Amino acid sequence: MKFDTPATLNPIDQLKTIGQPMNRIDGLLKTTGTAPYAYERHDVVQHPAYGYVVGSAIAKGRIRSIGLAQASRAPGVLAIVTAQNAGKLGQGKMNTAPLLAGPQVAHYHQAVALVVAETFEQARAAAQLVRVDYEPVAGAYDLAKAKDSAVPPDSINGDAPDTAIGDFEGAFASAAVKVDATYTTPDQSHAMMEPHATLAAWKGDQLTVWTSNQMIAWGQGELAKTLGIPKDKVRLVSPFIGGGFGGKLFLRADALLAALGARAAGRPVKVALQRPLMANNTTHRPATIQRVRIAAGQDGRITAIGHESWSGDQPGGSADGAVDQTRRMYAGTHRMTATRLAVLDLPEANAMRAPGEATGHMALEVAMDELAEKLGIDPVELRIRNDTQVVPDSGKKPQAKAKEGTPAQEHKPFSRREFVQCLRTGAERFGWSQRNPQPAQRREGRWLIGLGMAGAYRGAPVMKSAARVRLDRRGMLTVETDMTDIGTGSYTIIAQTAAEMLGLPLQQVRVRLGDSGFPVSAGSGGQWGAASATSGVYAACVKLREAVARKLGMDPATAEFSDGHVQAGGKRRALASAAGDADLTAEDAIEFGVLDKKMQQSTFGAHFVEVAVDAFTAEVRVCRMLAVCAAGRILNPKTARSQVIGAMTMGVGAALMEELAVDTRLGYFVNHDLAGYEVPVHADIPHQEVIFLDEVDPMASPMKAKGVGELGICGVSAAIANAIHNATGVRVRDYPITLDKLL
Ligand code: MOS
Repeated sequence: MKFDTPATLNPIDQLKTIGQPMNRIDGLLKTTGTAPYAYERHDVVQHPAYGYVVGSAIAKGRIRSIGLAQASRAPGVLAIVTAQNAGKLGQGKMNTAPLLAGPQVAHYHQAVALVVAETFEQARAAAQLVRVDYEPVAGAYDLAKAKDSAVPPDSINGDAPDTAIGDFEGAFASAAVKVDATYTTPDQSHAMMEPHATLAAWKGDQLTVWTSNQMIAWGQGELAKTLGIPKDKVRLVSPFIGGGFGGKLFLRADALLAALGARAAGRPVKVALQRPLMANNTTHRPATIQRVRIAAGQDGRITAIGHESWSGDQPGGSADGAVDQTRRMYAGTHRMTATRLAVLDLPEANAMRAPGEATGHMALEVAMDELAEKLGIDPVELRIRNDTQVVPDSGKKPQAKAKEGTPAQEHKPFSRREFVQCLRTGAERFGWSQRNPQPAQRREGRWLIGLGMAGAYRGAPVMKSAARVRLDRRGMLTVETDMTDIGTGSYTIIAQTAAEMLGLPLQQVRVRLGDSGFPVSAGSGGQWGAASATSGVYAACVKLREAVARKLGMDPATAEFSDGHVQAGGKRRALASAAGDADLTAEDAIEFGVLDKKMQQSTFGAHFVEVAVDAFTAEVRVCRMLAVCAAGRILNPKTARSQVIGAMTMGVGAALMEELAVDTRLGYFVNHDLAGYEVPVHADIPHQEVIFLDEVDPMASPMKAKGVGELGICGVSAAIANAIHNATGVRVRDYPITLDKLL
């Protein structure tokens, strides 16, 4: 089904199941510990061997030799895989550095060997006996030092690295009120609960991997490519995922090494990346240095806005897209954005929840607070005054557009933009009027109290997504798609979609996800999963409805589906009666046409935070948080709320504690476990409130929904930084805001 005209009234609009706060249909499996995760697939393979990964002890250089003699003789050892004995490996398109090093080493803890043994303990013990002789060379590990050598990347998310509209420098120079500030954000780790893990088994030349991966089709393709075998020889299964946050978008070393280990040992092998290996072996959100310049007239209207961002990555890697939201959030005639990418020999930088916008808001939304302070205008009011209903900067290269004979900046409208409503609703519900604009004025005992806020923006991309639905004679409906559930609630909203479309209770729908044997879905990434995958299920259900009606001799155009029955032309039949001995099956994909090119589809929000800062120790406590979101139809307010409070929690981490500490001499992340890499715990998180505006966006998808999982983190950290400033009068521009920076 092609989606290229705005959605009209459809069965989803009945909202009998969709839009209801249904419990997760997989909730019981999860809370009872019976959901099958990759490392625990005792149901499919009973006696696997265990793989233990040896990570490189240097950040850059080459391996002179690897001595395996001692390790091979260790008790229980079945095989040891290295680049020397693994055979020729291909290089996937999506990971920058090879997943198995040798002879060259590209980064610290890059895998250099996998030891396979009868037990985990034997594999771990033997791994200590692998002797690697390295020849290290000097590398670049310090973004601040590499900054001046940074160059424009090819693109950021397909858009131009640099944009320029009007005369930014001139307008900024002559402005009445201006802010020119530089902010830094550190490297961050996804730190998901479930480590990257894979169980691999070969049957002849057919490989099955039970793994933990957000994008099934990508993973299947990349694994086949790296192993040099046809794609149809690889089956990838990932029905449950214990968190991903972008760290499991791509094939990682666990899957490749498990496959190689199983081949070498001649039996199934499972590998979980050891927690202390994850931060350096896999990807991370790169550190940024960001300069934001904003100028305004005394009336608070922005005349010039500029955002420059620097980040680093491995050779051939990509840049953080921190400037992205600055092209689209606020009005202003004269504007510029610029992105620079430095080559660093740190581990591979890549996507982490709201890549680009998450870091970008941490700078832009503090700069807006600084501007508000200089202007003497309330920060909420300043944002309202600079609202725009058309995109100020399309992000396209001016030259590229000129060549095609179209205007450089087309100023396309937003399909829906309820940013101002988010700001007003949040201000009212949070009691924003009680904020004293003068910082450091409110003290309760030893605590300095402050309020802060920030705007939130995140694009709402859509992706082609397919599904298969099957009706059986008992009236059970089974949905199959390779969509994943990374803890987001995909199972539930997909079941709700199918139930709504066929007029069935939720209990009559069974959902099977995360298997490369199923139709290819959008997968879980870029907050496109919910809207895209349910739209694919919608498309398959439209086909099934037609098949059911035809089978029952009814007019598909007028057939109504409800309460397990189908009704048309005075006839009423049980839905199940359409399925005979053979089940009735339909399959289709949603394909998104031109709508998202004609109009900018985005989600908006506003975050409000109250903090208390200890006047003596500078300890920061977050007291209250409120998020207001406008993100199209909310398919399930309960799972959507969980997404947003999870994202807000991650924003607290980014504001106050999360930081991979770089050893700039040896080139690695020092605090590479959950003892040293701090993330918020329950005690750090107060009561969180989430309000969804009642928004429906027929331009976005037949579901009229968008994503919300990444919007939720955008702006949170800035709101906290702004609240800390309001509490203390101290403006910290280098994250995380640890107490040493406040004293
Ligand atoms: Mo997301 S960072 O695309 O999982």
